[in-house]
Amino acid sequence: MTATILDGKAFAADVRARVKAHVSQMVNEHGITPGLAVVLVGEDPASRVYVRNKGVQTLEAGMASFEHKLAVDTTEQALLALIARLNADPAVHGILVQLPLPAHLNAELVINSITPDKDVDGFHISNVGLLGTGQKAMVPCTPLGCLMMLRAHHGSLAGLNAVVVGRSNIVGKPMAQLLLGESCTVTIAHSRTRDLPDVCRSADILIAAVGRPHMIRGEWIKPGATVIDVGINRTDMGLAGDVAFAEAVTVAGAISPVPGGVGPMTIACLLANTLTACCRSNGLPEPEGLTV
Ligand code: GUN
Repeated sequence: MTATILDGKAFAADVRARVKAHVSQMVNEHGITPGLAVVLVGEDPASRVYVRNKGVQTLEAGMASFEHKLAVDTTEQALLALIARLNADPAVHGILVQLPLPAHLNAELVINSITPDKDVDGFHISNVGLLGTGQKAMVPCTPLGCLMMLRAHHGSLAGLNAVVVGRSNIVGKPMAQLLLGESCTVTIAHSRTRDLPDVCRSADILIAAVGRPHMIRGEWIKPGATVIDVGINRTDMGLAGDVAFAEAVTVAGAISPVPGGVGPMTIACLLANTLTACCRSNGLPEPEGLTV
């Protein structure tokens, strides 16, 4: 038996198409164009690629894209002044500061200076608290993409055992909150977890977000489980996920590959969040199926 492949590329294309249709309706019926501002400090090559892709996809969705590329030695004061301007700019509905920031900048302080309503990354402490208490939040893009794929495959997730391997603020913790919101029984495992293979084998839904290539082996997976691989590890052999795919695909019921799984969903969900932020700030109904 081999698993159903969860095709993130196709899924992301569908999300982008739905965002684009909704944006077109906003422009035509309300004269409002959703706008996303992306701030990049420094020259990190991977970050530059991400920022370029975000800009291209924002424009393709019919939204306005504002790119701010700042020198690596930009002061915290200058960065905070830019964010204050973007916070006050009515054409900007979403603000994303690309991480990691250079070491001399306090990332927490910078992120928390973004107006929570425009925090399309969902990293602001207010959004973290809103998500944790089950209130309407901006939800981090990668976990949101994973949840959309899980809902599409399963329908209801209620009562399923979910194991999230990884406890980062960007993926692991918000993913666990989202799954709890779906009435899963949630375990967060990490590098210090005892008997990790056994813990993983208890999962009906296994989310791998550790950043270690092929760490999760086929025999760690419950037969028929759904496996979502969030890992994007650059190795000599190319991109590798956190899951040993060739083994896992023979055991799992469904699995997302790397590349072509969760990756393409992240920017699609960033566009969805920007649209959601724009709808909320204008008192318009939110797009169905693009938020939690
Ligand atoms: N760097 C890597 N992933 C992300 C992300 O999701 N958002 C931001 N702002 N920076 C990142």
